Amino acid sequence: MPRPIQIAPSVLPADFARLGDEVAALEAAGVDLIQWDVMDGQFVPNLTFGPDVIAAAREHCSVPFEAHLMVLTPDVMAQQYVDAGCSRLIVHVEACTHLHRTLANIASMGATAAVALNPATPASAVAHVLDLVDLVLVMTVNPGFGGQAYIASMEPKIAELRSMIETAGLADAVDLEVDGGIGPSTIGGAAAAGANVLVAGSALYRDPDGLEHAVAQLRTLAESAVA
Ligand code: DX5
Repeated sequence: MPRPIQIAPSVLPADFARLGDEVAALEAAGVDLIQWDVMDGQFVPNLTFGPDVIAAAREHCSVPFEAHLMVLTPDVMAQQYVDAGCSRLIVHVEACTHLHRTLANIASMGATAAVALNPATPASAVAHVLDLVDLVLVMTVNPGFGGQAYIASMEPKIAELRSMIETAGLADAVDLEVDGGIGPSTIGGAAAAGANVLVAGSALYRDPDGLEHAVAQLRTLAESAVA
């Protein structure tokens, strides 16, 4: 049974002065979950959301939050983001000396663990931890900023990971997410390659017909690509 298509906005392009209203608007627009791009200014050159910011927004909507931890010290920061209301934590392979232990620790905190791969990181890097995660994130840009161009050469890696998940007997347990440059012209290729959770920031906020239209259009395009 193919995993359902999910549209997950990144709030990176949102109005940071009104994040409570912004997450409420995303929920009203029909998103399945909300991704917080947590950046520490070291793993990536940008600095974004601390746990208190997310905790404040948590009260304004009921859709699940996931924290995309683009940080050098995920072991140190994980518990704070669980406490802030994130039900999934995504750590980067490249930031984890002991990835297997980090993922197991996140699960022990009561959150679901997930793992992200930068464009240059091979799919094989997660071959021995698929049983510890509920999602694998394939970055389709180099992390740190929104509004970048989609790296289409990631599509074979998406397909490889989809195959790895299925071969491991985890097709009903593990989602495959993409993040970066996802919009009307790129979502079909990502979904056809095997991604079922699609993160979009710029494409949602720049739609002249508004968030609800943008979410519905992306969902339709992704579902059509896998029909
Ligand atoms: C990169 C960020 C972005 C963001 C989405 O570190 O993770 O990918 O979520 O950005 P857009 O959709 O504007 O490319």
